[in-house]
Formats: sequence, structure tokens, C-alpha cells
Amino acid sequence: MAHHLLEGKKGIIFGALDEKSIAWKTAQKCVAEGAEIVLTNAPIALRMGAINQLAEECNAPVIPADVTSPEDIQNLFDKSLEHFGGKFDFILHSIGMSLNVRKGKHYTEANYDFMHKTLDISAISLHRVLQAALQKDALNEWGSVVALSYIAAQRVFPDYNEMADAKSLLESIARSFGYHLGKQKKVRVNTISQSPTITTAGSGIKGFDGFYNYADKMSPLGNASSDECADYCVTLFSDYTRMVTMQNLFHDGGFSFTGMNEEIIRSLSNGE
Ligand SMILES: NC(=O)c1ccc[n+]([C@@H]2O[C@H](COP(=O)([O-])OP(=O)(O)OC[C@H]3O[C@@H](n4cnc5c(N)ncnc54)[C@H](O)[C@@H]3O)[C@@H](O)[C@H]2O)c1
Repeated sequence: MAHHLLEGKKGIIFGALDEKSIAWKTAQKCVAEGAEIVLTNAPIALRMGAINQLAEECNAPVIPADVTSPEDIQNLFDKSLEHFGGKFDFILHSIGMSLNVRKGKHYTEANYDFMHKTLDISAISLHRVLQAALQKDALNEWGSVVALSYIAAQRVFPDYNEMADAKSLLESIARSFGYHLGKQKKVRVNTISQSPTITTAGSGIKGFDGFYNYADKMSPLGNASSDECADYCVTLFSDYTRMVTMQNLFHDGGFSFTGMNEEIIRSLSNGE
């Protein structure tokens, strides 16, 4: 059920790979709420993914950009400004990739070329996007940028590997750049720390099913789905959250503040 929360707003959505992607659901909800969007993803993902189907559904252009390439980001901003006929209002950064995870390297045996690439794609890319937004003066006052994170930025989830470091850096960049964008442009920057979610990036983590089920049991409300995450993104792009900035916002059914859960304790006491 739409509420016209984003009527008249325009934005760029990074990271819709397939219909499981958090960005895919967010794109659909933003459009349903009245927004106009531009879709973008890495050229290789565009070849593999089904983004054209989403583009048609959302009446949105697809502009390829590898987030590790400053030229691609500049081009994306130039083309988006042209497409929208001026400044826009929101950006979703929904991007993550770990080379050490992909190559099956244990955290303690990380390859550092891979680690640099992981940090570049998954975290420094947010800085690159925000820098382009500032330099090109691309965002309207009271604009909003959201990036997706995970609680491994604060607490240890051993199999999350180097992505934990990438998420810590991502959250730090959101805070640090959020200060400057707030001061200079009245634009807000936040991260959403989302529950484990069954997507291509999520399922790439070793033992994902285990920690998906564990988080689901631990959280009083259960895991938040990608649809619910998309709803939360919409609220953060809307005018109802104009004074929220530089925050890491947990969207996890209460997982982050739950210390203990009776069912799990009972099953351990029963030796299950
Ligand atoms: N799935 C989960 O359990 C979960 C939980 C918390 C946070 N997140 C975060 O949510 C975000 C979205 O992930 P998702 O779960 O929807 O998975 P996804 O695999 O659908 O999305 C990841 C996206 O990153 C894009 N990407 C990778 N390298 C890129 C590059 N060089 N340039 C541009 N784009 C690139 C991919 O093409 C893909 O579209 C990520 O930041 C992820 O870490 C996911």
C-alpha cells in the first residue's frame, strides 16, 4: 500500500542484481511511492543480472558504473543530472563484495590485494559517491543517502570475514562525510544495519543458513526481510526523517539489543 511518501523525489539506486536484491525491492517501493529513479550496477553485473526487467517496470534508465572507477561515477552523476533535468534527492548504496570470501580465504590468511579491493568496492565507494555528489552539487537540500551495513561492524561474526572491516569503514565514512554534507548542503547520510537476508551477496557468506536461523530465533520480532528493509529505506528518503543523520540504524527485529533468548537457552540446557 503506497502513501505517496516520495512524490516528486528523484534518486539513484545502486546494486539491484536480481529480484532478491535489497536494492531491487527498494527500487520498486520508491517508484510505488511516487519517485523517479535511475538504476545502476557494475557493467559485469548488468550482463549477468536481470536489471532490464526492473528498468522496464520502473520506467528507469540503467547507467552502468563500477563503483571502483571515479570516471564511471562522474559519468553516472552527469548522466543522472541530465536525465532528471537537474538535482536529485536520494541515493541508495546497496553494494558489497569480498574477494577473500569469494576465494575461500580464512580471515587470518587474507590476501591483501583482495582485501584492498574488498574495502574499495564495499566501503570506499561510498566516499567516492558522496564526493561526486558534493563536487557536482547534485543533491537537493534535505536530500538523503542510505548505505547498507551489517552488525558484524560492531560485534564479531567469525565467518563474516573481512566484510566486518569493510562495514566498519562504511559506517565511519557515513558519519564523517555525513557531517560535511550536513553542514554544506543540508543532506543526510545514514547506514541501515540489516538482518541476514537471503540474497546473492548474503548467501555467499560461509554458514549463512546457520546465522540466518540463529538471528531469526534470537530477534524478538524475527529477521527483517528485504521488503521490510525497502520500506525502511523509503522512510529515510522521505521528508519524515529530515533530522536523522550520521547514524547507523539497526533494522534487525531487535537482534542487536537482545542478550539472551529463552528458546535457545532451553535447547542448550536440554543438550539439543
Ligand atoms: N544479504 C544480507 O544478509 C545482508 C545483511 C546486511 C547487509 N547487507 C548489505 O546489503 C547490500 C546489498 O546486498 P544484497 O544482500 O542485496 O545482495 P546483492 O548481491 O543482491 O547486491 C550486491 C550488489 O553489489 C553490486 N556490486 C558488487 N561489486 C560492484 C562494483 N564494483 N560496482 C558496482 N556494484 C557492485 C552487485 O552487482 C550487486 O548488485 C550490501 O551492502 C550487503 O552487504 C546484506
